[in-house]
Amino acid sequence: MSSNNYTNKKNLNICVILVGLPCRGKTFISNKIKTYLTWVMINCKIFNIGDYRRKQLGNVLDEFINVDSDFYNAENVEALKIRLNSYEQALDDMTKWFQTNEGVAVLDGTSSTREHRKWLLERLRKQHIEPVFVESYCDDQELINLNIQELIKSSPDKKDFNFYEEKIKNYIKVYESLNQFEDEKDYTFVKLMKMSNGLEQAVINKVQSYLESKILFYVMNLNYLKPSKVIWLSRHGESVYNVEKKIGGDSRLSERGLLYARKIPKLLKEQGFDEENQMTAWTSTLVRTNETAQYLPFQQVLPWRALNELDAGLCDGMTYEEIEEKYPEDFKERDDNKFEYRYKGGESYKDVVLRLEPVMMELERQSNILIITHQAVLRCIYAYFMNIPQDQSPWVAIPLHTLIKLEVRPYGACKVTLIKANIPAVSTYKEKGTSSVGENSDITNNSSRNLLTDSL
Ligand SMILES: *[C@@H]1O[C@H](CO)[C@@H](O)[C@H](O)[C@H]1NC(C)=O
Repeated sequence: MSSNNYTNKKNLNICVILVGLPCRGKTFISNKIKTYLTWVMINCKIFNIGDYRRKQLGNVLDEFINVDSDFYNAENVEALKIRLNSYEQALDDMTKWFQTNEGVAVLDGTSSTREHRKWLLERLRKQHIEPVFVESYCDDQELINLNIQELIKSSPDKKDFNFYEEKIKNYIKVYESLNQFEDEKDYTFVKLMKMSNGLEQAVINKVQSYLESKILFYVMNLNYLKPSKVIWLSRHGESVYNVEKKIGGDSRLSERGLLYARKIPKLLKEQGFDEENQMTAWTSTLVRTNETAQYLPFQQVLPWRALNELDAGLCDGMTYEEIEEKYPEDFKERDDNKFEYRYKGGESYKDVVLRLEPVMMELERQSNILIITHQAVLRCIYAYFMNIPQDQSPWVAIPLHTLIKLEVRPYGACKVTLIKANIPAVSTYKEKGTSSVGENSDITNNSSRNLLTDSL
């Protein structure tokens, strides 16, 4: 799975370097970059300076137990040495990683002075790694406080508000924002600004490749420094084709499918949804998702062509048994590498992921969205939020007549709740190596996976 659609230059290795004061969403941004790149099949690894510092202090679990905020004081020479050392070790590990990997490394630290960034840049360039800086600049105290509260909430053993405030104060003394006019004008960077007067700006400087622009574009779409949000997902109700075990097509809902469509508003209500808070449904352009959305008490239902089911090409309208009989080699090939297998005249999961990119970008910006779409598409979306590797994502079982509630949090794992409608439906899950369908594994098998796998 080394090939991908973005790295057109050979050996193009990038290091994304986060810049900014503590509690500006840098770790959130780092984790998101990793999620996104992994999802589009680009190798990515995060090197978290905090982790290296904790290791050095012999305190793997928690820097905050031994280290008080004075540690971050610039005049604390001993501490400064430890911090610089953390960068050295992170860079050493990164160099090793690049010896066997092509892709993107993310350096998650504060990198808060020009001198330090210059040092990083020179060191990376020497190893033919191209640095890209991503700065999160925010002087909006309300947003920062909100972020501190989320941090405290996500880790019960960490210190209080006061500790973070002191830590930030110490960093502010030495912090220098990226400067696009003088000595940093030749750096590749994006500077994201959220200001107390409501101004939101991004300055982009010297983008040099398609992959760099993809990363920066993605980062600009992120709603960082925001509290948790909920996204609802559902497959369409059982369709006539589902009952006939046929794939693809554009059939209508079965009677049971219609019952499910009628029940969704009730399920949402039971979960605390009230019609006052405006929710939008996104569907595909196919009849079965349109019919599933028809009873929703929402102001807006938005059909996206990008949410249409994986195109099975010549196999559209066939059952798995028929496919196995007519195209035995293809059938096996698909089981062997389901993510990359492309139906004759149709699509692969990988194709679906690429066409879903704009949907995911929009999803990052939005909340209160219910997506009603199809099995393969939901697998791709689910894999994004749950960080499921792409060779496994096509095998995730997503049952019919079940509402999926995803709580996306800025720190920590994404929480999944399955809300069963208790309306019977056929199973459309196909195990590897067989052409018969039937539920076996379940989406919940994967729900222990974390959205944000790299710890703070
Ligand atoms: C379903 O499709 C019809 C016809 O295109 C459209 O008028 C209607 O608004 C759609 N309903 C929903 C819920 O999207």
